[in-house]
This record gives sequence, C-alpha cells and structure tokens, in this order.
Amino acid sequence: MQMSYISQEKIAEIRDNADIVEIISNYVSLTPRGKNYFGICPFHDDNNPSMSVNRDKKIYKCFSCGATGTVFKFVMDYENISFLEAVKKVADSAGISVDIGAIPKLKNHSKLHEIYDLSLKFYLNNINTSAGKEAREYLKSRGINDAIIKEFQIGLALDGKDALAKLLFKKFDEKDIMKSGLVNKNAYGFLDLFYGRIMFPLCDLKGNVVAYSGRIYNREDNSKYFNTWETEIFKKGELLYNYHRAKDSARLNNQIIVMEGFMDVIRAYSIGITNVVATMGTAVTKEQAILIKKMAKEVILCFDGDEAGAHATMACADELLAIGVTPKIIALTDGLDPDEYILKNGDEFKNLIKNTMNVMDFKLNYIKKGKNLNNTVDEAKYVNEAIKEINKINDDILKELTIQKIAGETGLDEGVLRSKLENKVVAPKVPKKPKIKMNKYEIAERNLIYYMLRYPEVINIYNTKVTYMPTAEYRLLAREIKMFYQDNGFINEADLIDYAECDEDLVKTISKVEEANLKENYSKEEIDDYIKTIKDYNVKNEVVRLTNKMKEELDPLKKAEIAQKIIDLKKESTNV
Ligand code: CTP
Ligand code: MN
Repeated sequence: MQMSYISQEKIAEIRDNADIVEIISNYVSLTPRGKNYFGICPFHDDNNPSMSVNRDKKIYKCFSCGATGTVFKFVMDYENISFLEAVKKVADSAGISVDIGAIPKLKNHSKLHEIYDLSLKFYLNNINTSAGKEAREYLKSRGINDAIIKEFQIGLALDGKDALAKLLFKKFDEKDIMKSGLVNKNAYGFLDLFYGRIMFPLCDLKGNVVAYSGRIYNREDNSKYFNTWETEIFKKGELLYNYHRAKDSARLNNQIIVMEGFMDVIRAYSIGITNVVATMGTAVTKEQAILIKKMAKEVILCFDGDEAGAHATMACADELLAIGVTPKIIALTDGLDPDEYILKNGDEFKNLIKNTMNVMDFKLNYIKKGKNLNNTVDEAKYVNEAIKEINKINDDILKELTIQKIAGETGLDEGVLRSKLENKVVAPKVPKKPKIKMNKYEIAERNLIYYMLRYPEVINIYNTKVTYMPTAEYRLLAREIKMFYQDNGFINEADLIDYAECDEDLVKTISKVEEANLKENYSKEEIDDYIKTIKDYNVKNEVVRLTNKMKEELDPLKKAEIAQKIIDLKKESTNV
C-alpha cells in the first residue's frame, strides 16, 4: 500500500514534529480537558465537542461518528485532498521542508471521469475554433476575458447534434457513455445533450469535472441554463460551485462568501475576490451547509437582490443556523445579482463585504414586508414570526439584542417577549456510540487485533497460531499490522495509519477496533481464548465449505475423502 513519493521515515518525522493539537486548531477550536483536547467534530453534524485529540498518541477520535486518524487524515478529510497533499500541507504549517515534487492530483479514474476529461478537452477546444467566435464575443460582451475563460475552463458545445457522441464512441462503451449524462439515445441514434451552449464545468470537491451547466448565447430556448442530470459522480446537492478553488483562500481570509449563480462567482473573481462559492440556484442542502461551515468561520450570504434571492437567503440561513453557524448577509437591492452589481459598481462591492448585515436584522426586515405594524393583527403576526426566528439562533447576545429591538419597535415588554422564547435544553453530553451487533467470533477478532496494535508479542502469537482472520476487514487489518511490524519492528496506531496512507477502509476498521476500549494489559488466557474462538470459526467455515462441496461431488470415493476431512477438522477444533 506504501507508494508515496516521500519515505515513510519522512512522513513519520513530519507527523512527529507537527503538533496535532496545533494543526487541528487551525480548523476547529479545541479546549483541553484532562489529557486530551476536545472540539466539535467537523465530520458529522454536531454541536457537542465529541472529538478528542490526543497529543501523545498523535490521533484524533470522534466518539459520536467514529472518525479517527492522524493529523494527515484530518487534513485530508477536512479539505478533501489526497494523502500526499495533506502531508505537504502539514509539513508547511509545521515549517518542515519537504520536497515531494509535483503532487499528483487526486484523480478518481472511473470510466465516467475519463469521459468527462475527454469531453472537457473537446469543449475547450471548440471555443477557440472559428465556430466559437460568436461564443467568445458573447463572453467578451459580458466582460469575461481570456484569463477567466481559462481559469474556469469555460468551453463550448457546438451546434452539431452528435459531435461529442461520435468522439466518445471512439473510446468508450455505450454502457458508460449512457451513464455520463452527456449523450441521449433516440430512434435515430445517439445525440449530444448539450449543443449550442457555452459550457461551464462543474467540479467535485477534489476538482474533477463531473458535470456541466450549459448556457445559451445565440438563440432562444426555454431554458437559459441546462445542467447535466445526476449521475454516479455528480450529486448536485453535495457540491458547491468553485469549492476546490475557493477553499484555501477562504481559510486564509477566515471568510467564505456564498452566492447563487456561477456567473456571480466568476464576476467576483474578476475583481479579485476568490473566497467565494455558489449554490447554483437550488435550495441549500444540509451537506452543502456542512461544507460551507467547514470552509471558514465567517460565512457571508450574498444572494440575488430579488424576492427569490431573499427567500433563498432565509432558507440557506436556516440550514446554517441549524448547524450552529450564524451567517452574515449582504442584501442586494433593485433585483441585482452580484454579477450585475459588480459590473455596475466594481470595487464598491468590497465595501459591502465589510459592512454586512446581521442575519436577524435581515430576517426581521423580511418578515416585516407586506405587514403594517400599526395594524394590531399584523403586528402580532410579526412578533410571533420574529420569536420563531429568534428561536433558531444559538448566539445569546444576538438573541438578546433582537429582543430589545422588537420591544423597541412594538412597545411590548421585553420580559413578555423573553417568556415566549423556547428554553433550548442543551442535550446531555453523553457520547452516543453506534451500536454494532457483533457475534462472538468478530469480537474475538477485534479484541485480538486490539492487542496486536499494542504488543508485538501478540502479533507473533497471531503469526504462529492463527495466520487467518475469518472476517474480511479484520483480515486486511491484521495483514497490514503484520507487514508493518515486519518492516519496522515496532507497532503503533499512528504509524500504521500513515503507513497505509490513511486508507479509508483500514482506518474505519481501526476505529472499530479501538471502540472496544479494552483494558491496557492483556492476560495470556484471554489471548488464548480469542485464538481458540477464531480457530473454531475458521474450522466451522471450512466445514460448511466442505459440506457443500461434498453435496456436489458425484464420485463416491472423493465424497468419502471429503467426509473424512470434515471429521478430522472437527476433531482438530476440539483440541486446539
Ligand atoms: N440555474 C439553473 N437552471 C436555470 C437557471 C438557473 O441551473 N434554468 C442555476 C445556475 O447554476 C445559475 C444559478 O441557478 O448559476 C442562478 O441562476 P440565475 O440567477 O438565473 O443565473 P445568473 O447567475 O443570473 O446567470 P446569467 O447572468 O448568465 O443570466
Ligand atoms: Mn445574472
């Protein structure tokens, strides 16, 4: 599994010199408690500090969702980057110089990805041909220059109805092409889904192109934009436009700006604002809200300055509030979207970023619309709706200020308003462990591995007495432990995880093993017991396999042979 461009020693050196507490603190705030540090786990939806970071073990662990690993794994998962990229990042923040060379981008090379790679080349090429002149002029007329076209990989689907289909069929199977969402089949043959549109690639979190949004530019059509439908590699609700380009800048600025359309994002770029993503017009999902929360502490929503935009702002703010983020708002007016605002006012937009509105003021304005506060019925409606909104926020100070504001507006007594607030009962901080049902064999495997991860002599016992774990995931982990120990002559969790380059499945199994939380020291009898149980299980499985084989065997002699084997096996298992 080790195939990195840096030596294992160097990786260990980086990990051992980088303070895991310090690095993780760049992403989530940690508070010391006992030997460990605690923080809110960014890998699941939570408001309680369920994640612990252990400086000595160089491991973090979430008691709620089970996420675990070394500092590299944390950075990998948080930033959606590869192991090597994470190693480089950690080394940089710890001030350790490493020369990894060019880091290969984490590319998931499924057939669908390859199809998208080819289609991208095709569309990018089209826009530079003579047939792309009109499209280039359209973009120019919108103030999109060549540098931006290049940066955002804007391409063109020509008018021809099957040019891409033809190209794809030269290299790929129909089955894969049909799954791509780029080609359709009708009675006459295969047709491109996109034609006569300027193509905006949509990337997944790692920056792979996984879909397109195509815009008309020289003809009438019912839909201004046409998007790839959802495929195996494209789930609209799980990504944000420009995520992979914006995330470093967002971290640096400690701020992420969320817009609706990708044209808005592209426009913001043109005046040097790079910490910006787009939701692409649909209601923000919980996944997207969690992504946004991870990008930066300060979240600014800047949606279109029309009714739809205000509505989307309310909805997006609620998704964020529900996960403990209190966003700030830029409320554009006159129906302008950020794109139009920036075209009109240029750098003035940067002042809007500095003078955001707080979310409650925005909400109060929103629910006030169409109501006459001099009318008692409307006023009561307003207060009730406002209370509902206050109940959604966590920020006590903002809550209090809003109460005062409403009291001022309506003349109602603050105490009366306060009495209407829900008393949010903070859930007791009992870590909820996922309950996994395990049979006694799995428990024996898990427990044996628990001690193999700690004591070389247990690895030796395993090597001589068992050599085979019946359950696939434990088998893989045991093999990895064995190999690591053979190569290094010692064993510990952090080194093993990095040895396996934070392999997702392996780390998951380790996390499961660690959940056993056994006592630190083992007894010889205990280990013998696990071994006996595992052996029994292997025998049992083998007996089942042989019994089936025997049933199928037609030759009576061979049948008898197998029967004898079964008897021998059963005998053996009783006197392990
Ligand atoms: N959108 C879409 N399908 C549509 C309209 C919009 O998928 N028929 C998505 C696009 O992702 C778009 C976003 O919703 O970026 C915002 O839509 P809109 O505000 O209409 O687009 P603009 O950003 O204003 O695009 P343009 O300036 O090119 O008209
Ligand atoms: Mn627009």
